[in-house]
Formats: sequence, C-alpha cells, structure tokens
Amino acid sequence: MVYLKVIAGKTVNYADRPGKRFYLVNSEEIFMPPYGNFSFESTAWDEIADYTDHLVVTVTREGGLSTMARRVNAMSKGAIKRAVEHQSFQGRKAADVITLSYPSGLKATAIQLVVLERGEKPEIVRKAGVALAKRLSGKSAVILLGALRHSEQLCLGLALRSYKFQNYKSAEQDKRPDYRVMHDKLSNLRSDFETALSIADGVCLTRDLVSMPANILTTETFADHLLSLAEHGLKVEILDEDHLKELGMGALLSVGQGSKSPSKMVMLEWQGAEDAAAPLALAGKGVVFDTGGISMKPAAGMEEMTMDMGGAGVVAGTMLALAKRKAKANVVGLVGLVENMPSGEAMRPGDVVTSLKGDTIEVLNTDAEGRLVLCDVMWYAQDRFKPCAMIDLATLTGAIIVGLGHENAGVFSNDDQFCSTLLGAAGREQEGAWRMPLSPAYDKLLKSPIADLKNIGGRAAGSITAAQFLQRFVKDDLPWAHIDIAGVAKVKTDTAHSGAGATGWGVMTLNRLVQEMFETG
Ligand code: BES
Ligand code: MN
Ligand code: ZN
Repeated sequence: MVYLKVIAGKTVNYADRPGKRFYLVNSEEIFMPPYGNFSFESTAWDEIADYTDHLVVTVTREGGLSTMARRVNAMSKGAIKRAVEHQSFQGRKAADVITLSYPSGLKATAIQLVVLERGEKPEIVRKAGVALAKRLSGKSAVILLGALRHSEQLCLGLALRSYKFQNYKSAEQDKRPDYRVMHDKLSNLRSDFETALSIADGVCLTRDLVSMPANILTTETFADHLLSLAEHGLKVEILDEDHLKELGMGALLSVGQGSKSPSKMVMLEWQGAEDAAAPLALAGKGVVFDTGGISMKPAAGMEEMTMDMGGAGVVAGTMLALAKRKAKANVVGLVGLVENMPSGEAMRPGDVVTSLKGDTIEVLNTDAEGRLVLCDVMWYAQDRFKPCAMIDLATLTGAIIVGLGHENAGVFSNDDQFCSTLLGAAGREQEGAWRMPLSPAYDKLLKSPIADLKNIGGRAAGSITAAQFLQRFVKDDLPWAHIDIAGVAKVKTDTAHSGAGATGWGVMTLNRLVQEMFETG
C-alpha cells in the first residue's frame, strides 16, 4: 500500500516512512508510534478487576504499598502483601520489577510490582520504566501510578525500551502494546507526559532512520521524510544537486558523484524563542551507504554502513523532539545526504576537490568521505545562519571505536565551557560521552604536497586528525563541538535505554543541552 500526502507542494511517499504505519481514516492519518500507544487517564477503578493484560503498581524498598498497590492487593486476596513480605523481597533495589503471575481475584495475567520510593530521583524513575518495558516484553498494561512524582520519566523509559524496529517483519506490523497510564494529578501533568513522548518520538525517529536499509532510505526518501517534518512546525528546505553545484560545494558533491542517488542538503529550522537570537546549529553526516567508494571497504561487515547517516539521523530526531515539545529556543539542523559508491563516475584516489570555503582537498582515500560532506555543510551553516554555537555529529571514524568502544561517543571541542555543558547534559541523560583532544600539532599530518590539505592523516590518531580536518572549517571564536558517534549509533548489546540495534544516541543529550543553554534562567 502506498499512502501519499502533499506537503509544501511536494508529494511525499509514506509507504516506507520510518517507524510508523500510516492509516488513512477519513483522510486523516493516524500513526502508531514504534514504542506502542500511550494513553493518559485518571484512575478508573471500575475497569481494573476485568482488565486482562498486565497491571502495574509501585511498592517501596521496605515493602510498603502505595495506595494503588493496597487496592490491587485487596482485589487479589493479598498477593502483593505476600510478595513483599517474602524473604526474597529483601535487598530489592529501586527500579527493580517483580512479577506476580496469574493473580487470583483478578482477570489480569500478571501484576508487575515496580520498586520506587516516594521521593525518587527522575533518573531512577526513568530506569524503572526501562526495567518495566523489559519485563512487559511487548504486552499491554494498565499502569497505576497514583500520585507518583516524575511519572513522565517512567513513561519515557518505558517508551524508549519498548521500541522495536519491525517495519519489515510482515507478521508483526500491528503488534504494539497499549499502555494506559493512570495518574491522580493528570490535569497538572498532561503536558509533562506529552513532552516525554515528544522526546521518545525524536529518539525513535533517529533509531528508525539508522535501522533502515540503504535501498529504502536513499538520499531522496531521506529528504522526503525530512520534508514531512514540516507538519510539526519545522521550516524545511531542500537544496538539490544543481543548487549545491552553484554554491560550490565541491567536497560534498565529490562523495556522491559515483551514486545514482542525487546528493542533497536539507535544512530544518526551529524558531521557538521569542526573539530572533542567533541559533544553535546542528550539522549531520548523512551518508546513506558507505561502500568506501573506489577505496572500497572489505565485504565482511560492509552492510553495517547503512548506519553511516547516523549523524543526520540524530539531527533529524533532535529537531523533531524540539518541535514537538515546542522548545523555547532557536535551533537549525543541516544534513548532507549522499551515497558513497564506486562507479565510472566516482571520485578517484588522488583527485583534488574544492570545498565551499575555497580550500582545496587532495582525496587520498575515498573512504574518508564523511569529513568531505561535513566541511561543506558546516561552512554553509556558519555562512547562512550565523549561529551562536555549532555541533556536528557523524559516524566518522572506525578509530573512535578502537579508542572508546561502544560505551562513549568521542567529543572534540574548541571551547571548554561549551564542551563541559555538553558533557554534563550527556551525563545527566546517561548517554556516554568522552572528551578527546584537539591540537594544531596534529595539522602537519594533513599537509598535502599539491593541495591545501589532504583528507587522511595516516594510521596514528585517526579520530583526532578527522576532527582537526573539520576544525579547519570552523570560524574563529565560534564555540564548536564535533561528536564522533561511530561506536554508539548502533550497538550489539543493551544500553541504558535501548536494546541491541540503533540507540538514538544524542537526541536526549542535545535536547537537554538546548534546554540548559536557552530555556532555563
Ligand atoms: N563511516 C566510516 C566510519 C565508521 C566505521 C563508522 C565503522 C561506523 C563504523 C568512515 O567513513 C570511514 O570509512 N572512515 C575511515 C577513515 C579512514 C579511511 C581514514 C576509517 O575509519 O577507516
Ligand atoms: Mn568511509
Ligand atoms: Zn563513512
């Protein structure tokens, strides 16, 4: 089935929209988020006895029952009381979940006891949501939170860990859990719940984009997806190949010249501040597939390069989260969309290309393509938007995985204060980030005998020379951070908020950074 919608005069094909199956109902689209359907309700006791999926209540570490737990305990003939009084309950930690299966007196398949104190910190409440998602494992639930503080964090954790990429599993398309979250203070909290889901939507958009294969997420369909974000109030502008040529983006264009998919640059603008203050600029590497080009990668593992648009994915997800929660900040996101393919038209090793800035680059390895894309996007971002600060994100080097593994992204910055704000935000969102050095001493490794610089620096300090390359395209005095997410965009084991697969690393960090830089005080 192909669903079509016209936005800004352009037709968007919804058939492969990330994450969501779209249904046309009375010509209005209804979508199912990839983490399930949340509803927020006042506590409806008359429905509890007959509810057939899972019931969720909270208990304290000392075995104290919340008001909700007490009532469910009475309905289940003391099942909860027995569980918390059993010796196996000793030593339970906050955010643990205990499952009581097939309770008598109720129709529910199970009661899930979430261990949470009354005054728990937001990060612990979020962690409990993650633990609950693992335990529910795709089952629907009524979640009785009473007057629990930071309840929206439980929902965020639950949503993030419930995410599953199942766009291409034909039998599982419609299997998403229903979460009915019941809270006593709903009127005050509804916007907090909505904000939490806005952030989940951003993270999950990134995950969807990173998970999509390169035959489906091409430069063109990627641009279409971004265009459709206009419905959330983002201003979207797409520059096509002719326009990029006119501008003089010789570096970016050289990467895509071997591919049938045309290169593009897409800009997403969010103007949420009351004034016209200079925006924060986010720039993302969007290589929809990286074969390495003529300097081709080996066959084993090449399929992983479907995630080489991860930086652009984080920019898209962050912009969506900011727009959906109506952030009071000005932020502009730019992504360079290209495919790095070998062909008769592809760039050769040894070619010299001219960047938008005017610097000439000797391309000694066509697999060091990300920096060629970003240098033009970053220069354009500064020229056009005069940002107050800039962050670029890219799955830039294998070397950052050698250095930091899959636990931390590598952060490079020319500004200590900006960098510490960024690292602080990452820490508070439990997204690993570690600062790496920059120094002009590395620049000699990028010297070319025939051009202004070359695109590789040799084996030593591969992630740092990549960052030094980029810094050459950052104007003096602009606070800037480069984040190499090659190790964290897609992983093989659980993280704090995701299972194996695309993590959406960075959306929550950047969302919080925006909040802390522009929306507080
Ligand atoms: N996209 C890769 C980096 C990468 C590697 C991302 C592994 C995710 C996982 C990048 O374009 C690349 O190929 N980098 C080269 C640079 C080298 C040729 C200087 C690399 O890291 O080997
Ligand atoms: Mn490459
Ligand atoms: Zn790459």
